[in-house]
Amino acid sequence: MKILAVDTSCDETAAAVTDGTTVLSNVMWSQASLHAEFGGVVPSVAQRAHEERIDWMIERALRQAGCRMADIEAVAVTAGPGLAIALGVGIKKAKELVSKLKVPLISVNHVEGHALSPLARARTESQDARPKRIEFPATALVASGKHCDIIRIEKIGTYKLLAHTIDDALGEALDKAARMLGMGYPGGAILEKMAKKGNLETYDLPTPMLGREERLEFSYSGLKTAMWRLVQKELPLTPEKIYNLAAVFQNKAFLHVERLLIRVLDEYPTQDFLFGGGVSANSELRKRVRKICRQRNVGMHLPYSKRLCGDNAAMIGVAAGFKAARREFTDPDKIDRLPRWKVDEVK
Ligand code: KG4
Ligand code: ZN
Repeated sequence: MKILAVDTSCDETAAAVTDGTTVLSNVMWSQASLHAEFGGVVPSVAQRAHEERIDWMIERALRQAGCRMADIEAVAVTAGPGLAIALGVGIKKAKELVSKLKVPLISVNHVEGHALSPLARARTESQDARPKRIEFPATALVASGKHCDIIRIEKIGTYKLLAHTIDDALGEALDKAARMLGMGYPGGAILEKMAKKGNLETYDLPTPMLGREERLEFSYSGLKTAMWRLVQKELPLTPEKIYNLAAVFQNKAFLHVERLLIRVLDEYPTQDFLFGGGVSANSELRKRVRKICRQRNVGMHLPYSKRLCGDNAAMIGVAAGFKAARREFTDPDKIDRLPRWKVDEVK
């Protein structure tokens, strides 16, 4: 079933065409530069930018997929979680399309999309020849700018939230640290580059929730405050200091993920592990998570391209494909924005 998917949950205007788990196209327009001067996403700016670009993104997604609008058999849209007025743009467009095309509507949870993104397959075998055979129940980690969740996937469509953040998400914490060090927004990827040149022995920062892993909670506010104090003490910053501070912060932020992940995999063992979300693009974190999985003989699965790590609509199309197979369609008159929709409430 050819699905046209759209996601306008945050600051990417994204559209894609998928067929089952195969990604036929995946395009997005990042608004990051519009929000950079504010150091975070401004909802009203995001809404306007989505409205201006959504038709163009849909056109591009169809063209890249080699499809006409008439080939589309269902429309999928992110209903939440995300910024209410931004979500509204995608939902309105999806309703318009299903009414015009007379095809079913599928509402998708954005976090479910990230969790299932490693199941997406590239259109060409050469890009991704790996089989994606996954044993369920499986474990997923979604680490992004808004979410830091460890999820147990009982089966596709049935989720249990095992760990979540009580304050900042991992990507958000990395972005804030990057900002303290004078890097742009979002700074996670820049921080990664700077951290590569740094020395871990130079500074000391606390490991979040050390010894309290049994609570299965992520928390980055303490680490962030400690980082802020340290940066104030080290002013004025030199490139050398920036590299070291970036390395030390990133290390402690990732150590928190590692400790919680070990706890979860030991307590709720599974054969397969899926890793998605913007921060899953980070090579240092990938390396550390891979090591934890290898030690436990757990198969680790990442999205086949970094374009599927950050916000995108292909992951929404993939999740929608599974929903379509289960005949889980949404009444266009009843669909609503669900800004706080939790992944364990998808049914
Ligand atoms: O999934 P995503 O695009 O949006 C949300 O759903 O929030 O994730 C964005 C987050 C940002 O915090 C960004 O800094 C982070 O992902 N990110 C990275 C890297 N690339 C993106 N963090 C660390 N290392 C990277 N290479
Ligand atoms: Zn996201």
